[in-house]
Amino acid sequence: MRKVITYGTFDLLHYGHINLLKKAKELGDYLIVGLSTNKFNEIKGKKCYFPYEERKKLLEAIRYVDLVIPEENWEQKVKDIKEFKVDVFVMGNDWKGKFDFLKQYCEVIYLPRTPEISTTKIKQDLSLNEIAATK
Ligand code: CTP
Repeated sequence: MRKVITYGTFDLLHYGHINLLKKAKELGDYLIVGLSTNKFNEIKGKKCYFPYEERKKLLEAIRYVDLVIPEENWEQKVKDIKEFKVDVFVMGNDWKGKFDFLKQYCEVIYLPRTPEISTTKIKQDLSLNEIAATK
């Protein structure tokens, strides 16, 4: 059983997230997602539309995801990798190089991001539409 882990906020779930999760699952047999909690998002300066419990339910409904665990701080990754006996750590390549220190515990892979989509873009586009509609 080859275990894969990835981390993220996954707010306003979009096809860029699905592509990442699909490719991550293809690297092994069991995919764990460390999902940023509301509190951790605050620390990261991110404001989510969907709270943790709703984001968790959405991820759990995806066929590529086997387990969702809370991501509560920057430091937990080594502990998670050891506890869940993770073989592969995966992130989108916007994080390229940032987690190379985990290579002493497991394989580290950065996957290419899907172009032209992000939670930030969805929020910006919707708010621009709203402004246009009020004009
Ligand atoms: N991701 C991706 N392709 C995208 C958007 C995200 O592969 N177009 C990946 C990220 O690289 C990360 C995971 O999905 O590994 C979760 O990313 P997250 O930051 O939650 O999503 P974003 O859409 O990038 O959110 P934001 O705009 O708030 O940064």
